[in-house]
Amino acid sequence: SSVFADDINLWKKSTLNKILERGELQVCMEPGYMPFEMKDKKGRIIGYDVDFAKKMAKDMGVKLKLLPTAWDGIIAALVTGKCDIIMSGMTITQQRNLKINFADPYVVVGQTIMMKKELEGKIKSAKDLDKPEYTVVTKLGVTGEVATRKFFKNAKIITFETEADAASEVLNGKADAMVYDQPYNVLFMSDKGKGKLIHLDKPLTYEPLAWAVRKGDPDFLNWLNNFLRQMQEDKVVGFSDELYKKWLVD
Ligand code: ARG
Repeated sequence: SSVFADDINLWKKSTLNKILERGELQVCMEPGYMPFEMKDKKGRIIGYDVDFAKKMAKDMGVKLKLLPTAWDGIIAALVTGKCDIIMSGMTITQQRNLKINFADPYVVVGQTIMMKKELEGKIKSAKDLDKPEYTVVTKLGVTGEVATRKFFKNAKIITFETEADAASEVLNGKADAMVYDQPYNVLFMSDKGKGKLIHLDKPLTYEPLAWAVRKGDPDFLNWLNNFLRQMQEDKVVGFSDELYKKWLVD
């Protein structure tokens, strides 16, 4: 077969082609990770990823369907074709990247620590907190858990299904600190944590966040990366800057 025929076959198999034929972009995300995907008071899913997904569907000329998916099954959902893309504040890790492909990063974050106010002054770093008398919480299966297990060899570690449950544990005093993505912690501190918790906001890790797609699909990746660059670098329209101001700066 000619190189040209190979290209046509690749395109026919591309998720991008399937999205266009279906007339709908299907996105897996797990709400609860502010400000990227979360539920408003009416239960609608909103956030930074959601606005990007809407714009993406608009530029493709298709409808958008958000599929709320539990974090521990989100990669499996993508790989088995339950959705076209994961847009869920997912950190590119080398382990995940063995199973799925990532578009270029759209934000860089890092893990930070929120802790009880009583520990102010006494605890200034992860090292100070790594003592058997302290309990550190995080969410199961996220990079926060990986970082927690790396930085805390002596403290007690408890994981929760949701970031909200983990944060409540520190608020109600059952745990001493929480490790999670910085943007979430910043928002938590401006709301429920205000005056109650202390934020050690120096990042413990370097974490590019990116949208994930199935492997072997250069056409879709090419579209996503060019879309992303246009959103980020087109200062005339200023889409990305607007979103950044809307969701990531208090
Ligand atoms: N960035 C972290 C990770 O990739 C947490 C992302 C959690 N996202 C969510 N929608 N709950 O592990």
